[in-house]
Amino acid sequence: MTQPDYQLLCAQVRSFAEEDPHWLPLLSNVSALIMDTLADLNWAGFYLRDARTDEQTLLLGPFQGKVACVHIAFDKGVCGTAAAADQPQLVPNVHEFPGHIACDSASNSEVVIPLHASGQVIGVLDIDSPLFNRFTAEDSEGLKAVARTLDEVTDFSGLPLTK
Ligand code: SME
Repeated sequence: MTQPDYQLLCAQVRSFAEEDPHWLPLLSNVSALIMDTLADLNWAGFYLRDARTDEQTLLLGPFQGKVACVHIAFDKGVCGTAAAADQPQLVPNVHEFPGHIACDSASNSEVVIPLHASGQVIGVLDIDSPLFNRFTAEDSEGLKAVARTLDEVTDFSGLPLTK
């Protein structure tokens, strides 16, 4: 499989942000860009921190793919684990990940990268594939660069959501 040009992806993210850095259009277009650019994906999108209740949760954000779970508790599933630990998760076989949340039964491997605003986890980038072992360490590094670019250029105004 040809590796995506992650430097180009980062440059495209920056150019989207130049038009408008607000998280809603930016993350919407970045989910579309990732879905278009990376081969063999069935879901690409974002979960964003929701502080409307006492428990920290993630709320479904802009995405491409099938209808997905709306709420994910911090520390639950791959997304919650990435958010709670502030650590990227590269999962070759989601069925072997304790507590994996199966939103789309087609998913077999997954990569999740935390996003930050003011040094705090503000959400995660979540990418799923129907293939086992779809994501290499190089993909993970490239996607971390995309996430670091988003940390730098995104206007996360209004997040985390509060009452
Ligand atoms: N599988 C994820 C849930 C989100 S969906 O993949 C879109 C998880 O375990 O966190």
